[in-house]
Amino acid sequence: MPDPPSSVPNRPYPRALIPQSFIQDLLNRVDIVDVVERYVPLKRAGANYVACCPFHSEKSPSFTVSQTKQFYYCFGCGAHGTAVGFLIEYTGVGFVEAVKDLAQTAGMQVPETKFEKPRNKTEEGDDLYTVLLKAAQYYRQQLKETPRAIEYLKKRGMSGEVAKEFGVGYAPGGWQNLQAAFTDYNAKALVAAGLVIQSDEGKRYDRFRDRIMFPIVDPRGHIIGFGGRVLDQGEPKYLNSPETALFEKGRELYGLYQGRRAIREAGRVIVVEGYMDVVALAQHGVGYAVATLGTATTPTHVQKLLRQTEEIVFCFDGDSAGRRAAWRALENSLEHLVDGKQLSFLFLPQGEDPDTFVRKEGKEKFEKMLGEAKPLSHFLLEHLKSQVDMQTPEGRAKLLQEAAPRIKQVAAPLLSLMLRKQLALLAGISQQELDGQFQIKSTAPKPPPPRKSPPVRQSLARKLIELVMLHPEFARDVNPAALHAVDDAAEDAVALKTLAALLDAAASGNTVVNWPEYFRDTEHADLLLQIEPALLKRQDADWSEAELRAEFSDGWRQLNQRIELARQSESIQKHGLTGEDLDRLRVAKGVGGPKVNG
Ligand code: UTP
Ligand code: MN
Repeated sequence: MPDPPSSVPNRPYPRALIPQSFIQDLLNRVDIVDVVERYVPLKRAGANYVACCPFHSEKSPSFTVSQTKQFYYCFGCGAHGTAVGFLIEYTGVGFVEAVKDLAQTAGMQVPETKFEKPRNKTEEGDDLYTVLLKAAQYYRQQLKETPRAIEYLKKRGMSGEVAKEFGVGYAPGGWQNLQAAFTDYNAKALVAAGLVIQSDEGKRYDRFRDRIMFPIVDPRGHIIGFGGRVLDQGEPKYLNSPETALFEKGRELYGLYQGRRAIREAGRVIVVEGYMDVVALAQHGVGYAVATLGTATTPTHVQKLLRQTEEIVFCFDGDSAGRRAAWRALENSLEHLVDGKQLSFLFLPQGEDPDTFVRKEGKEKFEKMLGEAKPLSHFLLEHLKSQVDMQTPEGRAKLLQEAAPRIKQVAAPLLSLMLRKQLALLAGISQQELDGQFQIKSTAPKPPPPRKSPPVRQSLARKLIELVMLHPEFARDVNPAALHAVDDAAEDAVALKTLAALLDAAASGNTVVNWPEYFRDTEHADLLLQIEPALLKRQDADWSEAELRAEFSDGWRQLNQRIELARQSESIQKHGLTGEDLDRLRVAKGVGGPKVNG
């Protein structure tokens, strides 16, 4: 790791006294996609996400966010940086404030100044994730010791195996049970984590009492909250964690973490309404279900799911409440529709939910029913038609009027076209007439804009830097000693020195997500920042690691030959040429050893 700078010249955002290691930790914990998405809706494009750049005005998206590199870059205006940098640029806050903001969402405490005692990571109450994990462990233990709770789950048909997979537990009755799980029941973090409630008189008590506990897990496997169900009768039936620094209902989906593999394998995800639905489906072999957490499906939910899979089936009860919920889900999906991805709606028979259905009928019948779910376009038109009298011109006019705002929201150009054609047909007008009424311009999809990349001169050293940034483990294959010996006046010396520093840092096994941030305020930062956009392109190109490794070792060999040649020609200039030099030159140039009849 580079030495901290003694001063911070020419930097718009002084790093203050937050240790670099903390920033790295933080950047490891937050996801730049989530951070950017708070302000700018992103769309998936290959390995990355894109949007119209928020930093300059443009019609087609050149703003790119790489989830694997945790970095954004605009091919139009060149804006680039980390999650921290984005917050600074976008919201105009200072560096320290941006770090604090991110730390809060990650449940981390910013070490204020270097004079402060370093944070003891195991100190209780500091870290909300740890607090929630401990509570979950306690609830699980309590379940084992409470026959009444075990009986309840058995009665509902839940297997021990699936209970374990989902970390199901039990919060005992009584007011302050968590005292047994934490040494300091008064720690602020217990309230901040939503586990303990503090009354106006300052009395503290457990939020969850005598409830079956379902931990809610974020996509990285951290517990961020709980849902708790009463065992018998009682209100509310389900009590959820309040919104905390870690938990935002409208963003999270129950079961997404546990289901990630099954979702990938199935190529689809089912969105259901309840905790028990997810667990029961998993128990019966349908592992690709997730549930919203007592809220309607939000655009964020849809967006999150469409990033991971090609097909979403929304599964609702067949009653009127289910229909209403489905329509909300449809409305919240429109802006995130992508051509080639499929959204559909399944309405269960009256009186059933996925839990009861799959227990009674089994996986095969359930999956067969999934196959018959209504495509979104179908549900959309059917619903709109049902609201009007299709027999009269007035009714058909109303249909168009109701449809217009929805159709305009559809981001997928081909689907939008199909919907307009069908609507026109239903209303008895031409598609042109309809487009005119909807004020929709030419429907031909625009060709993607030519991507401008910054004028980066590709040198061998730059190429190697690029490859090491992508695959730091390559550094372990080589010895950078020769690079360190390179003279400042040598050709491309700046890049060679940066390559050397990068190789040293990477070889020591640092897990760095973001090299420019790591080398912030050193002589290497600017070059690394310049090179970073090239990484995005490489990711898009989807080369295999083996191909990249071969490119690296080839490049490395060439570079060393060049350095050696340069060294020798310098020595020759100084000392004149010897026969031995000539032989070495030939070897270095790869023309083979000395030949008798050369
Ligand atoms: P349901 O009332 O449909 O219950 O709530 P369920 O999922 O079928 O639960 P069981 O089978 O009776 O145990 C669906 C979802 O709505 C939220 C929960 O997320 C629940 O899983 N909900 C429901 C609440 O948040 N609070 C409530 O009081 C009820
Ligand atoms: Mn149910």
